[in-house]
Amino acid sequence: MAPRNDDAPTWRALEAEVRARLAAVAGDAAAAEARWILLEASGASAAELATDADDPVGALAHHRVTAMLERRLDGVPLQYVLGSWQFRGLDLMVDSRVLIPRPETEVVVQVAIDALVARGARVGRSDPWAAGLTEYAVADLGTGSGAIALALAAELPDAAVWATDVSADALVVARANLAAIGSAATRVRMLEGDWFVALPDALRGEMRLIVSNPPYVTDAEHPALPPEVRDHEPHGALVSGPTGLECVEHLVAGAPDWLEPAGVLVIEIAPHQRDAALAAAHAAGFAAEVRPDLAGRDRVLVAQLET
Ligand SMILES: C[S@@+](CC[C@H](N)C(=O)[O-])C[C@H]1O[C@@H](n2cnc3c(N)ncnc32)[C@H](O)[C@@H]1O
Repeated sequence: MAPRNDDAPTWRALEAEVRARLAAVAGDAAAAEARWILLEASGASAAELATDADDPVGALAHHRVTAMLERRLDGVPLQYVLGSWQFRGLDLMVDSRVLIPRPETEVVVQVAIDALVARGARVGRSDPWAAGLTEYAVADLGTGSGAIALALAAELPDAAVWATDVSADALVVARANLAAIGSAATRVRMLEGDWFVALPDALRGEMRLIVSNPPYVTDAEHPALPPEVRDHEPHGALVSGPTGLECVEHLVAGAPDWLEPAGVLVIEIAPHQRDAALAAAHAAGFAAEVRPDLAGRDRVLVAQLET
């Protein structure tokens, strides 16, 4: 049992203090962030924290809260402070080696799944007795934390998932996150390398889906990003180059060689890139459209080869 410290604050008092101090960096989100930090530091559920609110905080938990609060007050994003974040129901480890998975990317996954269902794919959690059996191949290029690849593997029981990244550091995190999907991880392979170069040649013309959330910020936009993003998330995950379209155009131009005839390409874009992304897709021989994210902004390029 943890030693009792009668001078320790109660959980209620500590939460109030953390909330007040976070207001400077988190604004309206201070109460929610304080709650996240206390839950993480205590290891308790929200219900336990409520029933134990007037108990003194143990020394170790107090230390953990203080350490997390200090990192957050230094401007480190909450998700890196907590060390994990939710993506389509998966609890993924995140740190400064990977982009923090965004809600709009959950929509990208949904669009990809819908496209596969339209092509006859089964949706649902894996049958444990079928682990390792696959019917079609999908690729997540630029996988970062593994968010897209792991969600696809978890939700599509017959998919063989190829996840790639040029960043060896990102792949360390993605591989750690394989544990989040249990036996479905047996259908995921993670490879290091530049976009399509990372994929085995035998997969040319075999992919039913290629999906990517590539870097799409311009060199000039980067300095103006919110400091939490600009100073903490990996530059190589955010910035594409002078136009912001370099990675999108590269993926669109390369995808026809790797897709099966009825395959589909799904790419996350910035809303203002809609027309340029569609033009690139048409130039590569795709029929394409752009779907909205949760906020109604143009966000997801969906392209299939014209036959
Ligand atoms: C915007 S992040 C997306 C991460 C993750 N897929 C997600 O949606 O949260 C872009 C990812 O592409 C990777 N990347 C950048 N350039 C690349 C390249 N030339 N080849 C492969 N991956 C690349 C970055 O390392 C980063 O992990």
